[in-house]
Amino acid sequence: MARILVADDHDALRRGLALSLTTAGHEVDEAANGNAALERLHEGYFDVVVSDLKMGGSDGLDVLRTTRQLHPTTSVILMTAFGSVTTAVEAMKHGAFDYVQKPFELEEMEVKVEKALELKRLRNELDYLRNERQENYDFDRIVGSSESLRKVLDVVRKVAKSNSTVLIRGETGTGKELIAGATHHNSLRAARNFVKVNCAALQENLLESELFGHEKGAFTGADRQRIGRFEQADGGTLFLDEIGDMSASTQAKILRVLQEHEFERLGGTRTLRVDVRLIAATNRDLSAMVASGHFREDLYYRLNVVSIETPPLRERKDDILPLATHFIRRFASELKKRLDGLDSEAQKLLVRYNWPGNIRELENAIERAALLAENATITSADLRLGDFAPAGGGRDPQGVVKIPPTGIALEDIERQAITEALKMANWVQKDAAELLQISPRVMNYKIKTLAIEMPRRRVLATSA
Ligand SMILES: Nc1ncnc2c1ncn2[C@@H]1O[C@H](COP(=O)(O)OP(=O)(O)OP(=O)(O)O)[C@@H](O)[C@H]1O
Ligand SMILES: [Mg+2]
Repeated sequence: MARILVADDHDALRRGLALSLTTAGHEVDEAANGNAALERLHEGYFDVVVSDLKMGGSDGLDVLRTTRQLHPTTSVILMTAFGSVTTAVEAMKHGAFDYVQKPFELEEMEVKVEKALELKRLRNELDYLRNERQENYDFDRIVGSSESLRKVLDVVRKVAKSNSTVLIRGETGTGKELIAGATHHNSLRAARNFVKVNCAALQENLLESELFGHEKGAFTGADRQRIGRFEQADGGTLFLDEIGDMSASTQAKILRVLQEHEFERLGGTRTLRVDVRLIAATNRDLSAMVASGHFREDLYYRLNVVSIETPPLRERKDDILPLATHFIRRFASELKKRLDGLDSEAQKLLVRYNWPGNIRELENAIERAALLAENATITSADLRLGDFAPAGGGRDPQGVVKIPPTGIALEDIERQAITEALKMANWVQKDAAELLQISPRVMNYKIKTLAIEMPRRRVLATSA
């Protein structure tokens, strides 16, 4: 749906044209003469202006000039009577999109309007492509077969085709952006833009100008008009990352776009309409922010129509090795280096590790290992996972235990060692036992006799 202005002083022709364009699914405004057309142009925004060249008062050339001035991205199609074609050609030079000679078939005009709209989309796309490198978000780029990831992808498949707003929550590095991209690329909007904005990266004013655009002179430094991300995403999807980090004013404006599909550029009075699907992501607890008054409740409900939670890597340990293999292949090809995989110690280490930075941390760890590895097989020493990596590659236990001068009960040292191992193993007793080189049975016995408190909710769903 586009907004179109039809200006012609010939009533029957104007009404017929308006009706046919309305039937084609557009929102049409009529102006019965040139002055009325100029008024409309000052009042609101149109995607396409169809104007007669010769009208009482201001003529088609005035309409063209004003449109070019107020709405540089709007296409103007002129209608000319026989004999004024040269003027029309002249008008093309001044930026008219096209002209039609009267009398014409309504269909001919519809085709021209569609072409004008297509051009506008292409321009948007171009503008967007200049800003953004398109990324590949196909499902087959999403690695992993754990139950929890499969559940997420099932929801994505189900909701992708709808226009519902989607809220993606998850810890840092869990693939929120990947899921957002997959949702867009499996939607009916896939051929249109997927536009990303990181709300945390910009301050209020800059963020609003990024989102809604601004008019020339809207603020100091605004030396030319800027098309915002909402406009670039028209017909496509806008991905608002880190949505928890928005000011109250921005929240109100986003709510309005969600409800009314309209907004104004900063410093602008004209109301713009867009057809945008919104996908939002956050690693913050939005419902808590609503409770504390930092996030609008009405916006929260509008965003949270479909809710997707990307599970942390430690809760889907099954995905660790497939992901690692995927990253090894990628870096091997990027670095043009032969890499076959991980030795068994390295595999164990990856599965055991807690991954606070999730998949991004895994990706980085593999990249580092791929760079450092001296052989085709990556070893645990190549991985350098913080405290986890064996110091100096050995298993030298010296210096692990510090006895305070006042002495300490052996039981306390044991309790500390076991708690530490459990934490490292994400509270999986079997894995913790392995770390301390005792049997799971002994581990279980120690936990009971030393009265070690396990977290109520086990963080781990599937153990490797
Ligand atoms: N299932 C997966 N398969 C392959 N790669 C993945 C998968 N999930 C995430 N990645 C990769 O891990 C990295 C982090 O993912 P992404 O940027 O989507 O996470 P995020 O949740 O948006 O993180 P942040 O909260 O830090 O913005 C990216 O390079 C992404 O391509
Ligand atoms: Mg992200």
